[in-house]
Amino acid sequence: MTEHVVTEIADGVATVRFNRPDKKNAIHSGMYAEAASAIAAAADDTNVRVLVLTGTGDAFTAGNDLKDFLENPPKEHDAPVFRFMHALANFPKPVIAGVNGVAVGIGTTVLLHCDFVYAVPAAKFQLPFVNLALVPEFASSLLLARFLGPRRAAELLMLGEAFDAKAAEGFGLVNAVVPADQLDATVQAKAKALAAKPPAALRATKALLNADHAEVAARIALEAKEFGARLKSDELKEAIAAFFEKRQPDFSRF
Ligand code: COA
Repeated sequence: MTEHVVTEIADGVATVRFNRPDKKNAIHSGMYAEAASAIAAAADDTNVRVLVLTGTGDAFTAGNDLKDFLENPPKEHDAPVFRFMHALANFPKPVIAGVNGVAVGIGTTVLLHCDFVYAVPAAKFQLPFVNLALVPEFASSLLLARFLGPRRAAELLMLGEAFDAKAAEGFGLVNAVVPADQLDATVQAKAKALAAKPPAALRATKALLNADHAEVAARIALEAKEFGARLKSDELKEAIAAFFEKRQPDFSRF
């Protein structure tokens, strides 16, 4: 256990917290593995009625660890990142995200698989896949267009510009923006309300809302194929080198 993912269970609520604040909670493969196991266990635990995802410190998560992309890219369909995606996409009970700060890459796409999202005013969202010479993942190429329409989805996925909590609320990605000192209380209050509902009816309602799960799973697989190919590209090496060298990438030679 790295303790980079912390799980707590109390009063019917399992809270999975990304806990690597010195790296803005960037997620490496060990963290995906731990989070996937925690989510799978919460799915099977009849005492757990609701799942909460959040982060430690001033970040929700800065997305996939960029060093891990180079050193430890996912190769198999059961790589930790895919186990994490499928555990969450198929989670049968309500999921609430408490977005306590920056949410980049999978930090934003994960929200498309949560039933409720609450964010602090300082939260910042970004889908910088193309900027990193990558393609969308976690079915975001399908689900983002559903949330926002194809024009806005193209803008966010092709330009990769950051947007703030107010914009995310306007897009319908976030239920409400709440002051930072009220985020935990807001999330816990919603979780408590959900935990008191009849669990089978709640699960059935969620299943009906997610009746397109096969299409979502197929899109995750389609994206993963292209994503895997892009991870081997020289464009990606340039993008990641530029991030760590704190400079702008230069794609003019490609
Ligand atoms: N992977 C690996 N390390 C990361 C990281 C990531 N995705 N995001 C941040 N870090 C590290 C930084 O390298 C830095 O490490 P250092 O202190 O050893 O230099 C530390 O976390 C703090 O990040 P920093 O960039 O200084 O914080 P910031 O507040 O100025 O900016 C972000 C925060 C999230 C906006 C910025 O770090 C960022 O853009 N990160 C990359 C996000 C990304 O592209 N994710 C992948 C999406 S597919």
